[in-house]
Formats: sequence, structure tokens, C-alpha cells
Amino acid sequence: MRIGALELGLRPVVLAPMEDVTDSGFRQLCRRMGADMVYTEFISADGLLRAPDRLRPKIEFAPEERPIAIQLFGDDPEAMAEAARFAESFDPDVIDINFGCPVTKIVCQGAGAAVLRDLPRMQAIARAVVRATSKPVTVKTRLGWDENSIRILEVACMLQDVGVQALTVHARTRHQFHQGPARWDWLRRLKEDPGIQIPIIGNGDVCTPEDARRMFEETGVDGVMIGRAAIGNPWIFRDVKYYLQTGGLPPPPTFAERLALCAEHLRLSARVKGERRAVLEMRKHYGNYFKGFPSARRIRQRLMEPDTLEGVLEVLAALESMEEVPLA
Ligand SMILES: Cc1cc2nc3c(=O)[nH]c(=O)nc-3n(C[C@H](O)[C@H](O)[C@H](O)COP(=O)(O)O)c2cc1C
Repeated sequence: MRIGALELGLRPVVLAPMEDVTDSGFRQLCRRMGADMVYTEFISADGLLRAPDRLRPKIEFAPEERPIAIQLFGDDPEAMAEAARFAESFDPDVIDINFGCPVTKIVCQGAGAAVLRDLPRMQAIARAVVRATSKPVTVKTRLGWDENSIRILEVACMLQDVGVQALTVHARTRHQFHQGPARWDWLRRLKEDPGIQIPIIGNGDVCTPEDARRMFEETGVDGVMIGRAAIGNPWIFRDVKYYLQTGGLPPPPTFAERLALCAEHLRLSARVKGERRAVLEMRKHYGNYFKGFPSARRIRQRLMEPDTLEGVLEVLAALESMEEVPLA
């Protein structure tokens, strides 16, 4: 699969953008585990233009994260174009536009999934961003606003016509948020439409390596994007790659490997965000890393106590003596 000049190989598997989850440290871990591309969390175009320093930790990335897309959201074509020019100064591989966020706060601003009810504005924003940057521009969106207004085939053609180079589709409507099964049949229809030539990345409900293979086989998508299944489990990318190649699965990560990954996540995050912020923000990840282990609660409580990097690393080292195996 190619996005402009960016070659991502056959059947790439990419990390979804997730606010408050996919920070620089987490993205680096996912890349090491085999994710073929990563995305920043969504970044407000208005916020970026008003207070760029405040959003710097969200937009900055380490060279090891490449290929990386910076994702922007906004309702105004000119502000989005200017934000894209600013984002380009960080030299990402791709600039991605969020046309899919269902959250009321974002939709009320006319951004995210709101443009699914206003396709001329969607087109104007996409065109303005494509013209503003020399980077390849991609879009991530949903099937439509609700069940009665699914226009994803038309949307794909329209975006392709203004120069968007790949389209990620979360196969749900805005109305569904995360509820109900993702409608993969629409991904197949996109791939079967002879007018749509840009690569399609399928997204929604890929929870296991088996799901990833099924999405490739049943829909013909060019790439698969994984979101929630990577939370607390960056190993999902290693597992998917291995499964696609061999049909088997590597052994699951041990408790010791989880502790080591946690320590690395914290160290990497601290490099970009600084120690204090990294330590505080890391706290929301512990529950996910140790989910399913008998002492998960106690482990989390112990990790929440220190407020220095050194302190957390000491607790992680002390936990190595525990003999934890996941609950069946
Ligand atoms: C905590 C969380 C934060 C998210 N933040 C973003 C975001 O910033 N940008 C975006 O395009 N989608 C965002 N999403 C949607 C995901 O990228 C993805 O489309 C969705 O979770 C469906 O994929 P999955 O079934 O693999 O999780 C978010 C989802 C979650 C759960």
C-alpha cells in the first residue's frame, strides 16, 4: 500500500489515533512491536494556531515513530490550511484530517463527524489542506451521520477528486459512537467500487489477529487500523504480523515483559513530555497493562504512589519478584 511516495508494504497494520492514549511513548512501543504507521492524537487546528506551545507535546514525535501522521481537526478551511502548514514544519510523513470524531463537544464546533452532514464543507476543508501542504493528505471518517445517511462511497470519490491520498473508514455511523458491530460490508463496497482508487484502511472491531486477517480477506481493504485492542497491549501488532505470515501466534507477554514495557513506556514519554507530566499521565495506563492479573488492583495502587520517574521505576523493579500469572 502506498500513500503518495510513502510505501507501507503489503497488508499494513496501523495504530489508530486515540486521544490521551497514543502519546509519543506509546507510539514508539507500537512501532517497535510492528505497527506499520502511527498517528498522533487529534489536534485542534484552532488550538494549534492560538497556543502552539501548549499543544507541542501532542504534535512532537521521535524519529523512531516514522512513518507518522499528524491528525488535525477543525471546521474552517482556512484555519485547517494554516494548521496544516504549521504541522508540516514538524516534517510528518502524512497529514491526516479527522472527519469522524463523534463527541458532542467537537461536533458542536462543526468539526469531526459534523461534516458528514455538510459534504461541501468537508470538501472545502480537504481541498484547502491538500493545497496548503506538500505532504500527502489522508482522511479518517465514518460511514455517515446515521443509518439513513450513509454516503461513504460518494465521500470517498469526492475526497479522491480533491487530492486526498488515502481514506481510513471506521465502519460505524456517528450515531453509533462505538455501539453495535462495525459494518465491514461497507468496506467491501468501497473496495468494489471501480471509481475509488485511493487506498482504503479499514477500522472498527479488529480485536485479535484473526479479526485482522478476516478484515483483509472479507473486505479487500489495503490496510487495517487497530485502536482499542492496542490499549495496554502493544503486542497486538507483533501478534497480527506473525499471524498473517504464519497462521500461528507467539506466546503471550509474561508479567515480567509487561513490567519492562511499562518502564520503557514511561521513559519514552518522559523524553517528550518531561518527567512530571509523563509520570502523571502514565497513571491511566497501569490498569490496562495489568488487566487480567490477580493482583492488578494492588499493582496499580503501588504504581500510582510515586511522583518521580525514579520512584515509579523502583516500584516496577520491586514488582519483578511477584509471581503473577494471568487469571484464566
Ligand atoms: C480513547 C479513544 C480516543 C480516540 N481518539 C481518537 C482521535 O483522536 N482521532 C480519531 O480519529 N479517532 C479517535 N478514536 C477512534 C479510534 O481511532 C478508532 O476509530 C475507534 O476506536 C474504532 O477502532 P477500534 O475498534 O479498533 O477501537 C478514539 C477512540 C478511543 C477509544
